[in-house]
Amino acid sequence: MNTQTSQTHLIVRGSILHFLQDPGLYPDAESYRYLDDGYLWLADGYVRTTGAWDALGDIPAPVRNVAEWADHSGQLILPGLVDTHMHYVQAGMIASFGCRLLDWLNDYTFPAEAAFTHPEVAAETARFVVDRLLAHGTTTASVFGSVHPQSVDAFMAEAQRRGLRMLCGKAMMDRHCPPEVRDTAERSGRDSQDLIDRWHGKDRLRYTITPRFAPTSTPEQLAIAGQLYQSRPDLHVQSHLAENDKEVAWVAELFPDQRDYLDVYEHYGLTGPRTIYGHCIHLTEREQLAMSQSGTAAAFCPTSNLFLGSGLFDYYGMAKSGVRVGLATDVGGGTSFSMIRTLAEAYKVSQARHHALSPLRGWYLATLGGARALYLEEFIGNFEPGREGDFIVLKLDATPELAFRMDRTRTLAERLFALTILGDERCVAATYVMGQRIH
Ligand code: GUN
Ligand code: ZN
Repeated sequence: MNTQTSQTHLIVRGSILHFLQDPGLYPDAESYRYLDDGYLWLADGYVRTTGAWDALGDIPAPVRNVAEWADHSGQLILPGLVDTHMHYVQAGMIASFGCRLLDWLNDYTFPAEAAFTHPEVAAETARFVVDRLLAHGTTTASVFGSVHPQSVDAFMAEAQRRGLRMLCGKAMMDRHCPPEVRDTAERSGRDSQDLIDRWHGKDRLRYTITPRFAPTSTPEQLAIAGQLYQSRPDLHVQSHLAENDKEVAWVAELFPDQRDYLDVYEHYGLTGPRTIYGHCIHLTEREQLAMSQSGTAAAFCPTSNLFLGSGLFDYYGMAKSGVRVGLATDVGGGTSFSMIRTLAEAYKVSQARHHALSPLRGWYLATLGGARALYLEEFIGNFEPGREGDFIVLKLDATPELAFRMDRTRTLAERLFALTILGDERCVAATYVMGQRIH
């Protein structure tokens, strides 16, 4: 313990909550830790430990003497929120009226993404989106760029400047889209490789191979994407799967030799650890089982699925079958940057499927569940010793409605549920990244 005073120490006081397992699958005692009045101790930006405020004396006196202190008494301290699927390049077309998926893509999305050929559009949007993610308490996200490599450069540069753990990739799309947002199989492979060389593993950044979805890629492009994923042990993959009925029928026409939608991705080697697919609503039993067995994750995007009329994700069934599931805003198909609002919609979707998503399980989903879905749980997602010190401070009385309701709660679960349903970004009092307050 004698080297400790040469490190930078931060001791944070507040109500500390973090998860060790999925509360839907494990008993309370194994699934979460809650300290009503506790401390979180970080050294050089990494979690050292947590404890009850009463037991502060467990931290050696020389450390306490040199530590910085942050008093968030009475506020809730949680690991940074994890958005497992969002399109930063759609920030300017979120809330576009009236379409379902395929028309929405053609009428609004592709034209909006075409603007990202200009680096200044990319830089301005990246700065705005990263600012807003932090304001909403999101410290890690799996992010889609446009087809243009410069869109990824802009996002990665902005995330690196703030020291964030972020995933991003350039959309690969070589058919069924306008020429302004179309690449070729060969060029998409080269551009993705250049971006991997430039960004993957730099500071806390990772590259995600991003074939947009099966309909906008030729078999040649999907094969190149699969080869890239197989080329290194730590690259990620993101795409879309079984979001909309017409999309599913179209994929069956385009890939007649494949058994189902997931089989297209399986055929090209795009399933397995560190792969995550948005939506996954209209899946067969076979696809669900295959995702579970291969470790292929699903991103649950409730605001998007309601907004685009896509359907109701079967969270209970997917989690029960062992699929890694994360929660996601899916901006701009989704309607909010807020993971809190997204959690409220996840609750409503699960109600419509006759399985109420419990408040503890919900907050697991927004933190450790997301980290696991992205295979980043060795770095982020909870306050186990050695984890990176990304955390948020939530004010439970941020609005009069919340304060009034909170006064009438008795249990942690009741407070978390009121926060889920009534809360939003107004509750995010502070966002810390590697122990530095950056919002
Ligand atoms: N499927 C293919 N591209 C997209 C997209 O940008 N958003 C959504 N929600 N679904 C997609
Ligand atoms: Zn998406």
